[in-house]
Amino acid sequence: MQIVRIAGGGKLAGRVAISGAKNAGLPLLAACLLTTDEVTLRRMPELNDIRFMAEILEYLGCDMTRTDDRITVRARSLNQDPSYELVRQMRASICLMGALVARNGQVKMPLPGGCVIGQRPIDLHLRGLQKLGCEITIEGGLVCVSARQLRGARIFLGGRYGSTVTGTANVLSAAVLARGTTIIQSAACEPEVVDLCHLLTAMGAKINGIGSPTLEIEGVDSLHGADHAIIPDRIEFGTFLLLALITGSCLRLPRDVAPLAGAVIDSLEQAGAIFEVDGEDFVVRGDRSELRPMELTTLPFPGFPTDLQAPMSVLMTQIPGVSLITERIYPNRFMHINELCRMGADITMEGATSIIKGRRALSGAPVMASDLRCGAALYLAGLAASGETTVQRIYHVDRGYDHFEEKLAKIGARIQRQRADEVETL
Ligand code: EPU
Repeated sequence: MQIVRIAGGGKLAGRVAISGAKNAGLPLLAACLLTTDEVTLRRMPELNDIRFMAEILEYLGCDMTRTDDRITVRARSLNQDPSYELVRQMRASICLMGALVARNGQVKMPLPGGCVIGQRPIDLHLRGLQKLGCEITIEGGLVCVSARQLRGARIFLGGRYGSTVTGTANVLSAAVLARGTTIIQSAACEPEVVDLCHLLTAMGAKINGIGSPTLEIEGVDSLHGADHAIIPDRIEFGTFLLLALITGSCLRLPRDVAPLAGAVIDSLEQAGAIFEVDGEDFVVRGDRSELRPMELTTLPFPGFPTDLQAPMSVLMTQIPGVSLITERIYPNRFMHINELCRMGADITMEGATSIIKGRRALSGAPVMASDLRCGAALYLAGLAASGETTVQRIYHVDRGYDHFEEKLAKIGARIQRQRADEVETL
């Protein structure tokens, strides 16, 4: 078991490179199954979730090659369904369903189980596929989806908490090879869905309304190979932006990612943060003494992203006054709160809202990551805290942040990965 040890309290400085987006890379890899030609995906982040997905594609029968940040997939023939052993390692493997049914006419997939950030149903994915003509049954923990011929349809994909990102990816991936026209209403508008649309278009799909909540898809008989660069990770960008403010440091981030993080930048500017553009850099001069408390609600894109709720909570602990953050996508995604309180934060919960009384200094403590974004928040808290923080269960962080510790060390963080049984002073 590995842990990360962080000696907090220091200032950081420098430029941080932002990797390709995990949540684009996963559905894009699934989309490679839609053609027998070769598809090359560039700027693929080095992450455990991407490795799991690549392993699943290989298991299904794809030829895969990886060189640096480039993955080439050739799905000449797909000879088996994903196994429970593989799928249970990563919930996002659900986004293979649409492509597999489009390609093979049927698929049996283990139903993804629960998740620490709350209930994560797939009813909208299934409803969308049913509208496209799929028959769906659930047997022995497997969801069995089959269609003799996918047919275009009008599909409303909105749910109780808004649109669904991987649900839109699934329905879209099936609709591109359906006969006739599909209209998806309340489609997710996340940049990762837009990126999938761009890959599918490069493969020969016909999609109108890209980036809007209404996608119109004219089915085609077949798709061909493509070469595509994945969009940068707006959540990684937001995490480093918040890190600069949390630690009072000056960091430079690639300017071209900023348009994907509009809600984050705007809420911080309203709270008094000042950002500058210098050539290709987006410069964050982390002077948190000027920041005022915030009231935020997480929302589907272009609103404030749920994936930055936990890191934003860390910043709120450092701003004098009371800040509120309400979670509208996953009302139970608050596993970081108790860990932050163990580091000295003053946070109480009222339903899906955390009430954060800021400006109590954080002090290092042993803490535990229970999911990816909780883990990232604890790294940030550890870097702001006095003394040493040890973070356990860092495998969650390895799923979604590309070379996180290396990037942090490069800007001056005192951070070290160790086996839990090896203890030395940093
Ligand atoms: N929902 C339903 N029914 C469905 C699907 C979703 O009710 O069939 C609900 C969910 O329970 C949730 C809301 O709709 O309340 C939104 O869920 P969505 O389906 O959009 O989430 P997802 O596609 O499973 C992706 C990201 C998440 C990110 C969310 C929201 C991937 C692989 N995952 O999940 O990323 O938080 O969108 O933006 O793209 C992460 O990276 O840490 C992460 C959890």
